[in-house]
Amino acid sequence: MSSTSILSLADQIKLEATEGSLDQGHGHVRLLQLIDELKLAVETPTETILRLIYQPPENAALRTVVDLGIFPLLVNASQKEGLSASDLALQTGADRGLVIRLMRVMSSLGLCECTETEVYRATEKTITMTKPIGDGVPCIYDLTLPALAKLPEYLRQHNYTNPEEYSTSPMQWAVGKSQFEWLAENKKHQSLFNSYMSSRREGKPNWFDVYPMDRLTEGANSHPDAVFLVDIGGNQGHDLQALSTKRSDLPGRLVLQDLPKIVSNVDKSGIETMSYSFLDPQPIKNARTYYFRAIFHDWPDRICKKILLNTVSAMNASYSRIIIVDFVLPDMKVPRMQAAMDIQMMSIGAGVERSKKQWEDLLASVGLRVNGIWNAHPGMESIIEAVLNED
Ligand SMILES: C[S@@+](CC[C@H](N)C(=O)[O-])C[C@H]1O[C@@H](n2cnc3c(N)ncnc32)[C@H](O)[C@@H]1O
Repeated sequence: MSSTSILSLADQIKLEATEGSLDQGHGHVRLLQLIDELKLAVETPTETILRLIYQPPENAALRTVVDLGIFPLLVNASQKEGLSASDLALQTGADRGLVIRLMRVMSSLGLCECTETEVYRATEKTITMTKPIGDGVPCIYDLTLPALAKLPEYLRQHNYTNPEEYSTSPMQWAVGKSQFEWLAENKKHQSLFNSYMSSRREGKPNWFDVYPMDRLTEGANSHPDAVFLVDIGGNQGHDLQALSTKRSDLPGRLVLQDLPKIVSNVDKSGIETMSYSFLDPQPIKNARTYYFRAIFHDWPDRICKKILLNTVSAMNASYSRIIIVDFVLPDMKVPRMQAAMDIQMMSIGAGVERSKKQWEDLLASVGLRVNGIWNAHPGMESIIEAVLNED
């Protein structure tokens, strides 16, 4: 790429940054996109390819550093002195030589600072690695990598057909089970998964701050027995809790549904819990809202239809609404994380990240109609409101 194009990108970045885009909105995402474009423009094609080839060892090193508990050690150490490779070796039991090799990768990834030879200090990103979102590192690595490593072979052997059956997903083929069975059998990972689920959207707007809630509250049945919202597959209730904390004025009950192992010990004020599999008919009839967040992307169309039909059977046609919070992929310039997530979902359960057209088709196939789609942040899931099509 010419230096003129590079300078033009640098100018756009400067403009975007000075216009106050460093927060979490559209400008922030635009700034990150421009930085990616600038990096690609500066890199030679060979450098781009080498960067991609050497991504997997970075993740393996990161996974190991998490195992060794190095990030909390750095966070708890004196910020002035940091910790040396010898200190880390002593405290973790790993060889000093190994620590040095791993920490080189962590410093190059910006996950800590190395300001003098073999001494490491915590940064803001080190601190975040010790928060619940950091649980995503071991959980997602162990859950997805065996299937991802075998994905090319799976696709070759299946003549490059699009995986569309949960029971024969790439993970099923490579590991003998798909994501939720694997998690159910790996207690430690299930708890890391729950912790990661509760934290991965920090800093992004809540769905109920983006979607106009009066569409649900106006005309809602205010009888104390009436159910205002059922969070289906709501994990341990992080979303519902955020909603009930922010909106104590909501009419009716809030109900959390998930698999028995997930909800059996959940005890959150103002939230009822119910063990329920969405592969069965929905037992709560006539709720105002049937809410699904990050559910349908886990599943292929055939199972999504089943989940939707199980919900439709409980809906009051003129009263109930379905709210889906999931990515709506743009037709072009799909953000990298969303494109990658689609491949991950394909691997671990034949799931799919869907475009607007795919959502409309899926919902129409079970007699539902999209009433509107809201999005405040292109890096975030969109909010889809669907109702029964009465035509
Ligand atoms: C990707 S997580 C999404 C959790 C939460 N809605 C969120 O957005 O953070 C998918 C959830 O679906 C739940 N799940 C999986 N299979 C289920 C089933 N058959 N019935 C009900 N919940 C299920 C999982 O336990 C998990 O909590």
